[in-house]
Amino acid sequence: MTIDWMARAVAQTAGLYPYVPGKPVELLLREKGLSHAVKLASNENPYGSSPKAIVAMQQVASEVHRYPDGDANVLKLKLAQFHAVERDQILIGNGSNEVLELVIRSFAGPGDEVIYARRAFIVYALATQAAGAAGIAVPESDGLTHDLDAMAEAVTDKTKVVCIANPNNPTGTLLSNDEIQSFLDRLPRDVIVIVDEAYYDFVAHELGDSVHSLTHPGLVISRTFSKAYGLAGCRVGYAVADAEIVGLVNRFREPFNVNLFAQAAAIAALDDREWVTSKVAETAQERDKLEVALDSMNLLGGHCFGNFVLLRHTKSADILSRLEDQGIIPRPLAGYGMPEYLRISVGSAEENELFLTALEKIAGEL
Ligand SMILES: Cc1ncc(COP(=O)(O)O)c(C=O)c1O
Repeated sequence: MTIDWMARAVAQTAGLYPYVPGKPVELLLREKGLSHAVKLASNENPYGSSPKAIVAMQQVASEVHRYPDGDANVLKLKLAQFHAVERDQILIGNGSNEVLELVIRSFAGPGDEVIYARRAFIVYALATQAAGAAGIAVPESDGLTHDLDAMAEAVTDKTKVVCIANPNNPTGTLLSNDEIQSFLDRLPRDVIVIVDEAYYDFVAHELGDSVHSLTHPGLVISRTFSKAYGLAGCRVGYAVADAEIVGLVNRFREPFNVNLFAQAAAIAALDDREWVTSKVAETAQERDKLEVALDSMNLLGGHCFGNFVLLRHTKSADILSRLEDQGIIPRPLAGYGMPEYLRISVGSAEENELFLTALEKIAGEL
């Protein structure tokens, strides 16, 4: 007799689906019989990571038979100093993805609501569904930018968590801290508000110090080492929040959630601001170059503040498959309800050149 495992799984499983990541290079090579491909689908750092982080990982390799520090104390102290906050205000996660999931799971369950923008980072919806809570996806005012008025109006007494991605992925839009603060001022004091700043380093100049300029009792600001720091493969991210909130969320955290290499790399990377700053500057320069080129081909989908650009065309599916034929992997956004868009991560100068050369040829034939 076959067993109906879906009927045995928790109720919310039926509405869940696995996160769909950018297509791996190996898969495209196999599919197309190519020998070389460029992945511009996951907003990774094309320049690698800080050499200091790599040395730090090599140095801890001989200690890998031991568990890492489950409390990630040295990393917490370093981040506390970096942000001028208390150590106990830092929550460390296996990527900021885990931080988002832990916070949502800690505060929202069946009968509760979590509010986010319809085209915000998809993990908010997935984590909400996994927690058994109801997701309230609020449409953007212009199809791209969080509609903070509508989000504030969506708050009910069931609202436990609100998520804002700033800059947003995949739409690339940025809200000012003043706009976010006005929004926070309209919310009940006991609602958790996650301000997800995975792309913060790319907008540090425009945005300023959000950790110290935003105030709300339930504010959780999350950041990651995956983007500007180039440590996506390590999986390490964190949040800054009220120490009591961090303490509660830590009850849901698995004991050794951030591995030895990730902790060592993040600690070293924080000491290599020079590397991060120079790569952020190069990324911004390359992003602007890509946006100018897309605009000249009438393909620009809007200005993006992260390390990616948006292409918009009614034949985007066609463009996607023809780029893939030439070994370029962009990210389709149909899953976000944006079938006309492709998101392209900013690559190295050489990768961007390959992309633009391929795209110019395709654009001429559309
Ligand atoms: C807006 C946003 N938040 C969070 C994440 C999660 O990143 P990570 O788990 O690598 O820290 C991403 C990854 O793309 C993102 O785009």
